[in-house]
Amino acid sequence: MTAALATTPATPFAAQLEAEIAALKQAGTFKTLRYIQTPMDAEVDMEGSGHALVLSANNYLGLANHPEVIEAGREALTKYGAGTASVRFICGTFTPHRALEEALAKLHFTQSALSYVSCWSANTGLMPSIAGSEDALISDALNHASLIDGCRMSKAKRAVYKHADMTDLEAKLKEAQGARRIFIITDGVFSMEGSIAPLPDIITLAKKYGAAIIMDDCHGVGVLGKHGRGTAEYFGVEGQVDIITGTLGKALGGAAGGYIAGPKALIDYLNQVSRPQLFSNALPATIAASALKAVEIMNREPERVARLHAGVKRMREGLKKLGFKPLEGDSAIVPIIVGETSFAIAMSKELLNEGVFITGFGFPVVPEGTARLRIQMNAALTDAQIDRALVAFEKVGKKLGVI
Ligand SMILES: Cc1ncc(COP(=O)(O)O)c(C=O)c1O
Repeated sequence: MTAALATTPATPFAAQLEAEIAALKQAGTFKTLRYIQTPMDAEVDMEGSGHALVLSANNYLGLANHPEVIEAGREALTKYGAGTASVRFICGTFTPHRALEEALAKLHFTQSALSYVSCWSANTGLMPSIAGSEDALISDALNHASLIDGCRMSKAKRAVYKHADMTDLEAKLKEAQGARRIFIITDGVFSMEGSIAPLPDIITLAKKYGAAIIMDDCHGVGVLGKHGRGTAEYFGVEGQVDIITGTLGKALGGAAGGYIAGPKALIDYLNQVSRPQLFSNALPATIAASALKAVEIMNREPERVARLHAGVKRMREGLKKLGFKPLEGDSAIVPIIVGETSFAIAMSKELLNEGVFITGFGFPVVPEGTARLRIQMNAALTDAQIDRALVAFEKVGKKLGVI
């Protein structure tokens, strides 16, 4: 990225990669990074593209730029300094970690919780810790990459069931009988589809076959349920999921960080063996404090969640009226499938020209031929802003022949 590197003669290895990048550019599938010059919010200033409405952020509750969330981080920065300079068990545990973890456990009706520097770390630090060669991991086919990698890092027997297919899950559970431990692993909300896992059915099967459930609720927390407590609240089954993993990088302030919520024995055990806990720095105290404030705001302002739900409804209905066919669902993710990756990228560029920032996703993030524009709604968007986005969708959709 730097000018100095650009003038260095390419090594054979770099030349090989340059050829692969040239091919991506030729195919129109090369991703470019866009630089934002203002805080993450409903609208931002984007270097080279001006002012834009943001329909691509995970900022579901609009808390990333909330004054109280910022102030909580600022106070913690002053009180605890810039970083932890240590992993948790050596000397990286600060009092804001405990306060945050207690609030997260309460949020999920679990005994305990443990923070990580990201949900990626949480997911990849979980499965290898609790499932060994005598155990079985049964995972939804559309699970997030971090769950997939977490499963791959475990020595357990692995099986994948067809997305949300309970008949297939039951078949895989029957095959797994005899294992010391069986885990069913699912996203709460599937990030590329916006669909919601059939959690009550999963719970029934888990009980029938003696399995435990691991649910990643990164896109459910702050979004689903009247109070934003996630997929379990949405279905009225709180307290019935064994292990919930989540992120602080989306609805809960949007900075970074992840967590695992579950039985106290699990959290105690992860503190002994989970490799990202043992070998990687703790979450900075300033982020823990901001995230705790975000949880507090979510708990005290259910109207923020209601505002998000109303915005999702307005966007979905508006898109359908224009002739788009977004994938159905109750989450804040509204995907529009457009086919080829290059087309999704081209459409996203056209929308940015109209002042709407929304990323096009293609292979390998989603299967070939199912590239999409993934709208992510947030509570900071006003009706007027949503309507402005719809005007842009209409113009670009007509220009590109999508509607
Ligand atoms: C379903 C899901 N799980 C895990 C993650 C990883 O979260 P984090 O950004 O905290 O590492 C993401 C992030 O995109 C996600 O969508």
